[in-house]
Amino acid sequence: MQAEVLDAVNAPEASVRRAVAALKSGEIVALPTETVYGLAGDAWNVSAVAKIFAAKKRPYFDPLIVHVKNRAQLEQVAFVQDAIAGRLIEAFWPGPLTVLLPKRDSVSELVTAGSPLVAVRSPAHPVFRAVLEGLDRPLAAPSANPFGRISPTTAAHVQRGLGDQVTLILDGGACLHGLESTIVYPSGGILHLLRAGPISREVLEQFGPVEISSNLGKKAAPGQLASHYAPLKPLFLVNHADEVTHRANAGYLAWQVRPSGFAATEVLSSTGDPVEAAANLFAALHRLDAGEVEAIYAERIAPDGLGTAILDRLTRAAALA
Ligand code: TXA
Ligand code: MG
Repeated sequence: MQAEVLDAVNAPEASVRRAVAALKSGEIVALPTETVYGLAGDAWNVSAVAKIFAAKKRPYFDPLIVHVKNRAQLEQVAFVQDAIAGRLIEAFWPGPLTVLLPKRDSVSELVTAGSPLVAVRSPAHPVFRAVLEGLDRPLAAPSANPFGRISPTTAAHVQRGLGDQVTLILDGGACLHGLESTIVYPSGGILHLLRAGPISREVLEQFGPVEISSNLGKKAAPGQLASHYAPLKPLFLVNHADEVTHRANAGYLAWQVRPSGFAATEVLSSTGDPVEAAANLFAALHRLDAGEVEAIYAERIAPDGLGTAILDRLTRAAALA
């Protein structure tokens, strides 16, 4: 069975109502957020949560982010004792920042993969917010892609990757940021940065010292698996298109300037705007991956600000090649 796609831009109320009804009955629904599309299920319904893992073919050791509508709902899933955590939430919610906090018993260990910490964020997208409002329960939602593949930034991406696994997709248009949320674990006065994202390290440093921490202790934080975000075609990182001599069967992901001779090219931002580049990144990779190319070459970007998050995703996409 193929998923039904509802137009949440032109018919927001009807689509939100359908999504809420499906979620109430324990189904899972793909929803737009301001970062990437999420595959959402009632965080308090263990069988809905299990359906998320099954649809994505995601291993159970990879925990899910819980999405809350506000601070009051946050208090129902986690303890906010850390002062920096409180300030981060105040500053960035609703928005693309996920915070790791000690979980309450209401959150199943299926959601956190056995961890005493739960990852929580309050998304800004009006459609997602309306669904949270209508359901009045927190939503567990990973990115709506098959495990290990490129995250979806449009409803069409979700349809292509998981169209036979979900019954309902709400189409809210292209995602604003195009990159998954920044994940931070505030502890002992330090902000442990688990995933680079739209809220940059430089911005986080205003709240305290930041330490890059690709995993917490022994258990790998699975979004940090080296090969996450991989396209199906081999992807190689280059500094400049000049490095690529065999172009006829190759795709090229350029930062600003479109090179010639490639079978397919994508330009992330002709003006060099990192915000625009981030928003275009996954869609460009999806197009190159679907095209008639045998390999994809992607240009490295300077690792500062949003560039860190973009380079992080490209490096992981390249890890399997
Ligand atoms: O922007 C986003 O964060 C999107 C939208 C849908 O909200 N969600 C998203 O979820 O990217 P997902 O599951 O694709 O990535 C979440 C990452 C995973 O790498 C997971 O391992 C990590 O967060 N994570 C979730 N809960 C965790 C926990 N309790 N401890 C450590 N890492 C956790
Ligand atoms: Mg993901």
